[in-house]
Amino acid sequence: MKILVADDDFVSRTMLQSVLRKMGYEVEACEDGAQALESMLRDDAPKMAVLDWMMPKLDGPDVIRQLRAEKEDYPYLILLTNRNETSDKVEGLESGADDYLVKPVNPGELKARVHVGERFLSLQRKLDEQSKVLINLERQQRASSLAQMAGGVAHHLNNKLQAVMGCLDLMIMEHPSQENSDKHDLIMLQRTQQAAEEAADIGKKMLAYLSQNHGVSEIIELRPLCQKVIDELLSSYPVLENMEVICRDGPVSIHANPGELHEVIRQILTNALEADPLHAPRLVLETSDTRTCLEQKTRAPHILSGNVPLHQGAFAKITLRDKGPGIPREKIDQIFDPFMSTKFTGRGMGLPVCVGIVRKLGGAIQVSCPLEGGTEVTLCLPVSASESSD
Ligand SMILES: Nc1ncnc2c1ncn2[C@@H]1O[C@H](COP(=O)(O)OP(=O)(O)OP(=O)(O)O)[C@@H](O)[C@H]1O
Ligand SMILES: [Mg+2]
Repeated sequence: MKILVADDDFVSRTMLQSVLRKMGYEVEACEDGAQALESMLRDDAPKMAVLDWMMPKLDGPDVIRQLRAEKEDYPYLILLTNRNETSDKVEGLESGADDYLVKPVNPGELKARVHVGERFLSLQRKLDEQSKVLINLERQQRASSLAQMAGGVAHHLNNKLQAVMGCLDLMIMEHPSQENSDKHDLIMLQRTQQAAEEAADIGKKMLAYLSQNHGVSEIIELRPLCQKVIDELLSSYPVLENMEVICRDGPVSIHANPGELHEVIRQILTNALEADPLHAPRLVLETSDTRTCLEQKTRAPHILSGNVPLHQGAFAKITLRDKGPGIPREKIDQIFDPFMSTKFTGRGMGLPVCVGIVRKLGGAIQVSCPLEGGTEVTLCLPVSASESSD
């Protein structure tokens, strides 16, 4: 474990570093409060810090207050003080410190206090792991009830709609106004037919969400496929005119059904353009392994469809990043649920369809809202057998 020591006094800092190193810890050291704050706000920040009270730029209690306000995770913070009055200790602990040590620090006491911190952090880790398990369980239970409902609705809806559409076809074919000029009834029938087709399309999307659409798979190169989707959307979104598909590692292919993969790219690109119609999103294609394909987004709100794919081998990584308003934190957990939409005209079936298709391919989707703004969608798909064996 890494521990930060922040103290402007050279002798005290060196002593603390040496005791902690002898205890087997990796130690990072700095001389003022501003540097301490910067180190502790990094993504790979130490989990524990020993902070002097009096430091240039920012004092220890100020660093602690800012860390408690800005950091989502909870580092264990020990405040060093020359002051031994009860009121000073109270003030230090009230600022958010977990413990304090009075200078000059006794090495034995330092060791004991750091051990207390380690016990605290280990309990906290266990608690975090358990709450993650519970959240995943809850998500899985919700997804499985939704899947059961969607399956039932899609099945019954499709059966009834087949009958309705068959009858409508016959009525339109045999309608007398096909020949004469009064087409009012015919127009009504055609509108009914169109509405029935739209309803049937929802049924198909629900089956896609359940990974129950069956199509023939082939080896597909991703760059031309993405370009095809871009060209198709160009008439609705002229901003795509100069959109570039960035390929980091040469051609990337995957084994999938071309229609389904086309649909996935179309849905995520459409979402990005609906979020920000004035700027073309950034699309990057690359190959990656399972571990690095879906980076852990520790601070940014994010959601991952299912579990990270476990099987070994190469993955194609497709990243689409827009500069739109992002997704509200309280909504991001629901965006893979069927019929969840924040748009006036949206049906909320775009991402669920993507999840169903990607799941069938043995991949995963991650949607995150980076702290700098916008939305990033990452698709992680196993590359085709021929590529991975190269
Ligand atoms: N790039 C994005 N930027 C902001 N919000 C997004 C983005 N992508 C998805 N979302 C959020 O996720 C919700 C669900 O997306 P999804 O594609 O499933 O449905 P929709 O776009 O609302 O409707 P549909 O795709 O069926 O027309 C959206 O309503 C939106 O709130
Ligand atoms: Mg959509």
